[in-house]
Amino acid sequence: MKRISRREAIETMMAGSAVLALTGLNAEAQTGAAATAAPAFRGQHQIKPLPFDPAKLKGISEKLIRSHHENNYSGAVRALNAVEQRLDVMMKDKDLPAYVYGDLKREELVRTGSLVLHEIYFANLGGDGKAAGDALEAIKKSFDNYEHWESEFKRTGNALSGGSGWVIFALNFHTGELHNYWAWDHMHNAPFSRPLLVMDMYEHAYQMDYGAAAAKYVDAFMQNVNWEEVNRRFLNAQKAAAALKA
Ligand SMILES: [Fe+2]
Repeated sequence: MKRISRREAIETMMAGSAVLALTGLNAEAQTGAAATAAPAFRGQHQIKPLPFDPAKLKGISEKLIRSHHENNYSGAVRALNAVEQRLDVMMKDKDLPAYVYGDLKREELVRTGSLVLHEIYFANLGGDGKAAGDALEAIKKSFDNYEHWESEFKRTGNALSGGSGWVIFALNFHTGELHNYWAWDHMHNAPFSRPLLVMDMYEHAYQMDYGAAAAKYVDAFMQNVNWEEVNRRFLNAQKAAAALKA
Protein backbone atom coordinates (compact mmCIF):
# COMPACT_ATOMS: atom_id res chain seq x y z
CA MET A 1 0.00 0.00 0.00
CA LYS A 2 1.25 3.47 -0.90
CA ARG A 3 2.25 5.58 2.09
CA ILE A 4 1.24 9.22 1.96
CA SER A 5 2.72 12.17 3.79
CA ARG A 6 0.83 14.26 6.30
CA ARG A 7 0.73 17.08 3.74
CA GLU A 8 -0.79 14.78 1.11
CA ALA A 9 -3.29 13.52 3.62
CA ILE A 10 -4.32 17.07 4.47
CA GLU A 11 -4.65 18.01 0.82
CA THR A 12 -6.78 14.96 0.15
CA MET A 13 -9.03 15.76 3.07
CA MET A 14 -9.31 19.47 2.44
CA ALA A 15 -9.29 19.92 -1.31
CA GLY A 16 -12.82 18.59 -1.78
CA SER A 17 -14.67 21.69 -0.68
CA ALA A 18 -14.72 24.50 1.80
CA VAL A 19 -18.06 23.22 3.04
CA LEU A 20 -16.47 20.00 4.18
CA ALA A 21 -13.86 22.04 6.01
CA LEU A 22 -16.63 23.83 7.85
CA THR A 23 -18.43 20.70 8.93
CA GLY A 24 -15.25 19.35 10.47
CA LEU A 25 -15.42 21.89 13.29
CA ASN A 26 -17.84 20.79 15.97
CA ALA A 27 -19.82 23.11 18.21
CA GLU A 28 -17.47 22.70 21.15
CA ALA A 29 -14.46 23.54 19.02
CA GLN A 30 -16.27 26.55 17.57
CA THR A 31 -17.05 27.88 21.03
CA GLY A 32 -13.44 27.45 22.07
CA ALA A 33 -12.18 29.09 18.90
CA ALA A 34 -14.50 32.04 19.37
CA ALA A 35 -13.34 32.59 22.94
CA THR A 36 -9.64 32.83 22.12
CA ALA A 37 -9.60 34.14 18.56
CA ALA A 38 -8.66 37.64 17.45
CA PRO A 39 -11.72 39.77 16.64
CA ALA A 40 -11.37 39.15 12.89
CA PHE A 41 -11.81 35.41 13.47
CA ARG A 42 -14.32 35.41 16.29
CA GLY A 43 -17.46 34.75 14.24
CA GLN A 44 -19.89 36.58 16.48
CA HIS A 45 -22.17 38.29 13.96
CA GLN A 46 -25.72 38.57 15.22
CA ILE A 47 -28.86 38.02 13.16
CA LYS A 48 -30.89 41.23 12.91
CA PRO A 49 -34.68 40.89 13.09
CA LEU A 50 -36.90 42.15 10.28
CA PRO A 51 -37.26 45.93 10.72
CA PHE A 52 -40.90 45.96 9.54
CA ASP A 53 -44.10 43.92 9.83
CA PRO A 54 -43.75 41.31 7.06
CA ALA A 55 -47.54 40.90 6.89
CA LYS A 56 -47.93 44.46 5.65
CA LEU A 57 -45.87 44.55 2.47
CA LYS A 58 -47.74 45.14 -0.76
CA GLY A 59 -47.41 42.32 -3.29
CA ILE A 60 -44.74 40.38 -1.38
CA SER A 61 -46.09 37.70 0.94
CA GLU A 62 -45.25 37.30 4.61
CA LYS A 63 -44.37 33.65 3.93
CA LEU A 64 -41.78 34.64 1.33
CA ILE A 65 -40.22 37.40 3.45
CA ARG A 66 -39.97 35.17 6.50
CA SER A 67 -38.42 32.37 4.45
CA HIS A 68 -35.96 34.82 2.88
CA HIS A 69 -34.97 36.20 6.27
CA GLU A 70 -34.81 32.89 8.13
CA ASN A 71 -33.13 30.81 5.46
CA ASN A 72 -31.08 32.94 3.10
CA TYR A 73 -30.05 35.88 5.29
CA SER A 74 -29.81 34.08 8.63
CA GLY A 75 -28.06 31.19 6.91
CA ALA A 76 -25.42 33.60 5.59
CA VAL A 77 -24.82 35.02 9.07
CA ARG A 78 -24.40 31.56 10.58
CA ALA A 79 -22.12 30.50 7.74
CA LEU A 80 -19.95 33.62 8.08
CA ASN A 81 -19.50 32.93 11.78
CA ALA A 82 -18.47 29.37 11.05
CA VAL A 83 -16.11 30.49 8.28
CA GLU A 84 -14.34 33.04 10.49
CA GLN A 85 -13.85 30.50 13.27
CA ARG A 86 -12.66 27.85 10.87
CA LEU A 87 -10.17 30.27 9.29
CA ASP A 88 -8.68 30.76 12.75
CA VAL A 89 -8.21 27.03 13.15
CA MET A 90 -6.76 26.65 9.66
CA MET A 91 -4.24 29.46 10.23
CA LYS A 92 -2.72 27.39 13.02
CA ASP A 93 -1.94 24.56 10.60
CA LYS A 94 1.41 25.39 9.01
CA ASP A 95 1.11 22.51 6.53
CA LEU A 96 -2.19 23.66 5.08
CA PRO A 97 -1.80 24.63 1.41
CA ALA A 98 -2.58 28.29 0.69
CA TYR A 99 -5.02 27.34 -2.06
CA VAL A 100 -7.10 25.36 0.42
CA TYR A 101 -7.15 28.38 2.70
CA GLY A 102 -8.16 30.45 -0.33
CA ASP A 103 -11.31 28.37 -0.80
CA LEU A 104 -12.55 29.49 2.57
CA LYS A 105 -11.45 33.09 2.02
CA ARG A 106 -13.75 33.10 -0.98
CA GLU A 107 -16.57 31.87 1.24
CA GLU A 108 -15.77 34.67 3.68
CA LEU A 109 -16.29 37.20 0.89
CA VAL A 110 -19.51 35.56 -0.35
CA ARG A 111 -21.07 35.39 3.13
CA THR A 112 -19.97 38.90 4.08
CA GLY A 113 -21.55 40.27 0.91
CA SER A 114 -24.74 38.33 1.61
CA LEU A 115 -24.94 39.55 5.22
CA VAL A 116 -24.36 43.20 4.31
CA LEU A 117 -26.61 43.35 1.25
CA HIS A 118 -29.47 41.46 2.92
CA GLU A 119 -29.41 43.76 5.96
CA ILE A 120 -29.46 46.80 3.66
CA TYR A 121 -32.24 45.15 1.61
CA PHE A 122 -34.60 44.44 4.48
CA ALA A 123 -33.98 47.88 5.95
CA ASN A 124 -34.99 49.58 2.69
CA LEU A 125 -38.37 47.79 2.60
CA GLY A 126 -41.50 48.54 4.61
CA GLY A 127 -42.19 52.01 3.19
CA ASP A 128 -44.87 53.44 0.94
CA GLY A 129 -42.75 53.47 -2.23
CA LYS A 130 -43.19 57.21 -2.74
CA ALA A 131 -39.86 58.88 -3.44
CA ALA A 132 -39.29 62.14 -1.63
CA GLY A 133 -36.66 64.26 0.06
CA ASP A 134 -33.03 64.98 -0.73
CA ALA A 135 -32.47 61.62 -2.40
CA LEU A 136 -35.25 62.37 -4.87
CA GLU A 137 -33.76 65.77 -5.69
CA ALA A 138 -30.35 64.19 -6.24
CA ILE A 139 -31.92 61.56 -8.49
CA LYS A 140 -33.51 64.27 -10.61
CA LYS A 141 -30.13 65.97 -11.04
CA SER A 142 -28.34 62.76 -12.00
CA PHE A 143 -31.04 61.11 -14.13
CA ASP A 144 -33.01 64.15 -15.44
CA ASN A 145 -36.18 62.94 -13.72
CA TYR A 146 -37.42 60.27 -11.29
CA GLU A 147 -39.10 58.22 -14.02
CA HIS A 148 -35.83 57.85 -15.91
CA TRP A 149 -34.04 56.67 -12.77
CA GLU A 150 -36.82 54.21 -11.85
CA SER A 151 -36.96 52.88 -15.39
CA GLU A 152 -33.23 52.14 -15.34
CA PHE A 153 -33.33 50.64 -11.83
CA LYS A 154 -36.15 48.29 -12.86
CA ARG A 155 -34.57 47.41 -16.21
CA THR A 156 -31.33 46.52 -14.45
CA GLY A 157 -33.32 44.25 -12.13
CA ASN A 158 -35.17 42.63 -14.99
CA ALA A 159 -31.84 42.01 -16.71
CA LEU A 160 -30.92 39.81 -13.74
CA SER A 161 -34.17 37.82 -13.77
CA GLY A 162 -33.73 34.11 -14.23
CA GLY A 163 -30.23 34.40 -12.81
CA SER A 164 -29.13 35.98 -9.60
CA GLY A 165 -27.74 39.18 -8.19
CA TRP A 166 -28.53 42.63 -6.95
CA VAL A 167 -29.38 46.08 -8.21
CA ILE A 168 -27.44 48.59 -6.12
CA PHE A 169 -28.33 52.28 -6.34
CA ALA A 170 -25.27 53.89 -4.84
CA LEU A 171 -23.24 57.02 -4.30
CA ASN A 172 -19.75 56.36 -5.57
CA PHE A 173 -17.27 58.12 -3.30
CA HIS A 174 -14.55 58.08 -5.96
CA THR A 175 -16.53 59.58 -8.84
CA GLY A 176 -19.01 61.48 -6.69
CA GLU A 177 -21.81 60.14 -8.90
CA LEU A 178 -25.09 58.33 -8.35
CA HIS A 179 -25.58 55.14 -10.35
CA ASN A 180 -27.73 52.03 -10.52
CA TYR A 181 -25.11 49.30 -10.44
CA TRP A 182 -25.61 45.76 -11.77
CA ALA A 183 -24.25 43.03 -9.48
CA TRP A 184 -24.21 39.40 -10.52
CA ASP A 185 -23.69 38.04 -6.99
CA HIS A 186 -22.91 38.96 -3.38
CA MET A 187 -19.30 39.70 -4.36
CA HIS A 188 -20.03 42.19 -7.14
CA ASN A 189 -19.87 45.79 -6.00
CA ALA A 190 -18.74 48.98 -7.69
CA PRO A 191 -15.60 49.88 -5.74
CA PHE A 192 -15.84 52.57 -3.09
CA SER A 193 -19.59 53.06 -3.32
CA ARG A 194 -22.23 53.38 -0.59
CA PRO A 195 -25.46 51.48 -1.34
CA LEU A 196 -28.53 53.69 -0.92
CA LEU A 197 -31.17 51.25 -2.19
CA VAL A 198 -30.65 47.58 -3.03
CA MET A 199 -32.97 45.05 -4.67
CA ASP A 200 -32.37 41.33 -4.28
CA MET A 201 -32.73 39.56 -7.64
CA TYR A 202 -31.95 36.04 -6.47
CA GLU A 203 -34.87 33.74 -7.25
CA HIS A 204 -35.46 33.17 -3.53
CA ALA A 205 -36.57 36.82 -3.37
CA TYR A 206 -39.61 36.27 -5.60
CA GLN A 207 -40.08 32.69 -6.83
CA MET A 208 -42.50 31.71 -4.04
CA ASP A 209 -44.88 34.54 -4.99
CA TYR A 210 -44.34 35.02 -8.70
CA GLY A 211 -42.66 31.92 -10.10
CA ALA A 212 -40.41 33.01 -12.95
CA ALA A 213 -42.29 36.32 -13.45
CA ALA A 214 -39.54 38.44 -11.92
CA ALA A 215 -40.86 41.68 -13.45
CA LYS A 216 -43.95 41.45 -11.21
CA TYR A 217 -41.69 41.22 -8.16
CA VAL A 218 -39.71 44.23 -9.36
CA ASP A 219 -42.96 46.23 -9.58
CA ALA A 220 -44.00 45.05 -6.11
CA PHE A 221 -40.58 45.90 -4.67
CA MET A 222 -40.88 49.51 -5.84
CA GLN A 223 -44.20 49.86 -4.00
CA ASN A 224 -42.52 48.99 -0.71
CA VAL A 225 -39.35 51.08 -0.84
CA ASN A 226 -38.67 52.87 2.42
CA TRP A 227 -37.57 56.27 1.11
CA GLU A 228 -37.02 57.60 4.63
CA GLU A 229 -34.24 55.04 4.98
CA VAL A 230 -32.88 55.85 1.52
CA ASN A 231 -32.77 59.54 2.48
CA ARG A 232 -31.03 58.76 5.76
CA ARG A 233 -28.36 56.79 3.90
CA PHE A 234 -27.99 59.49 1.26
CA LEU A 235 -27.44 62.26 3.80
CA ASN A 236 -24.92 60.17 5.72
CA ALA A 237 -23.16 59.27 2.48
CA GLN A 238 -22.92 62.94 1.53
CA LYS A 239 -21.32 63.72 4.89
CA ALA A 240 -18.90 60.83 4.46
CA ALA A 241 -18.02 61.97 0.96
CA ALA A 242 -17.30 65.49 2.23
CA ALA A 243 -15.13 64.10 5.03
CA LEU A 244 -13.19 61.98 2.56
CA LYS A 245 -12.39 65.06 0.48
CA ALA A 246 -11.24 67.07 3.50
FE1 LIG B 1 -31.66 37.13 -0.76
